[in-house]
Amino acid sequence: MTPFYRHNGSLMSDQRSLTDLAEQYGTPLYVYNRGAIESAWQEFSTALEGHPHLICYAVKANSNLAVLDALARLGSGFDIVSVGELKRVLAAGGKPEQIVFSGVGKSEREMAAGLEAGIRCFNVESASELERLAVVATAHGTSAQVSLRINPDVDAQTHPYISTGLKENKFGIGMADAMATYRRAAELDGIDVQGIDCHIGSQLTSLEPYADAFALLVQMVDALKEEGIALSHIDVGGGQGIQYSAEDDRLDVASWAQCIRSAVGDRDLEILVEPGRYIVGQAGVLLTRVEYLKSNEDRHFAVVDAAMNDLIRPALYSAWQAIESVESLDRPSRLYDVVGPICESADFLGKQRELAIAEKDLLCVRSSGAYASVMSSNYNTRPRAAEVMVDGDNAFLVRAREETEALFAQEFLLP
Ligand code: LLP
Repeated sequence: MTPFYRHNGSLMSDQRSLTDLAEQYGTPLYVYNRGAIESAWQEFSTALEGHPHLICYAVKANSNLAVLDALARLGSGFDIVSVGELKRVLAAGGKPEQIVFSGVGKSEREMAAGLEAGIRCFNVESASELERLAVVATAHGTSAQVSLRINPDVDAQTHPYISTGLKENKFGIGMADAMATYRRAAELDGIDVQGIDCHIGSQLTSLEPYADAFALLVQMVDALKEEGIALSHIDVGGGQGIQYSAEDDRLDVASWAQCIRSAVGDRDLEILVEPGRYIVGQAGVLLTRVEYLKSNEDRHFAVVDAAMNDLIRPALYSAWQAIESVESLDRPSRLYDVVGPICESADFLGKQRELAIAEKDLLCVRSSGAYASVMSSNYNTRPRAAEVMVDGDNAFLVRAREETEALFAQEFLLP
């Protein structure tokens, strides 16, 4: 399925023209396609069919309520990393018993909120967190269901900023301490040991690092069982890579699922998975209008109305995302740096892109459904962009553009 396609030279999403949406809602504008979100989720569901499993969408990738709503209606679980994300999931109709809580720095307040909501599991990332959770749960007269996040020290072969499974990363409990931490968890009041967890990184396009991590995890499950600590689930994190350019390979979810299914074999383990980017990444685009074309000697710039505050991935990770004209028009083509209005040299969406454009043309930045609007900021007092969800003939406003005055409404003049 192609959520964004050309019809008579114009980019469309389902039955809606992106040019019309930009005119109606203004730019910069995020546009999501509901069908694409649902079908990416279904890929996991189909691939894991027949084995007990729970797909816990990683909310951090795109936490818009409408996205969560669409997924909750499919029966999705959710992977959260803050009390804020917990509140969003509940507001969108997600079921507490299908929520797992990840993250290295859960506060006592967040632990309490998770317990009060009755979430499925805390993915515990350190021995200290385990002790603290035990205290908080006991004080609440309950016990916390936990899995321990193991850092398997495998190289995910991805960008260093989004690699999480190496021992130099802050995430998880090292292999050397894992068994001892499980023994401690098993004897602690307020702790109910349920599973094992790992997440080795994001935007993975090969199966090899997954296979290495899964093998280590099931070995540990077996070793724990021998000691009388029986686990009922294995949470294998997310990380499935998507296409940012025509040369990129999207991870094959069917093969990925085969990999975890064969690692688990006939062990009695429910499989939990926490995909984020794969579900929403290619289901979204960012629309932006060209304000000015300018040249500094032989370097040409397209100054657009979206900036690093709207989409920080190019500045932060040198991420490459495809940029194209929404309308194919007859214009001279040249190489442009596509830059925003912010006063920083890192404020670019793409460099040296071949584009045939004029001022006021509309551009589309592809694969902007994940880690895009959620990472936006108000730098330079820029209101966050509006967001629209297309569903067939319909386009729904799912986030209104921020009002400038609201950006400083919580600030105060001196007395
Ligand atoms: N589970 C855990 C514990 C995670 O930390 C993450 C992502 C996921 C699941 C979902 O991973 P995904 O399936 O989306 O790869 N801002 C970066 C990506 C950061 C990913 C952080 N953790 C980017 O724009 O590339």
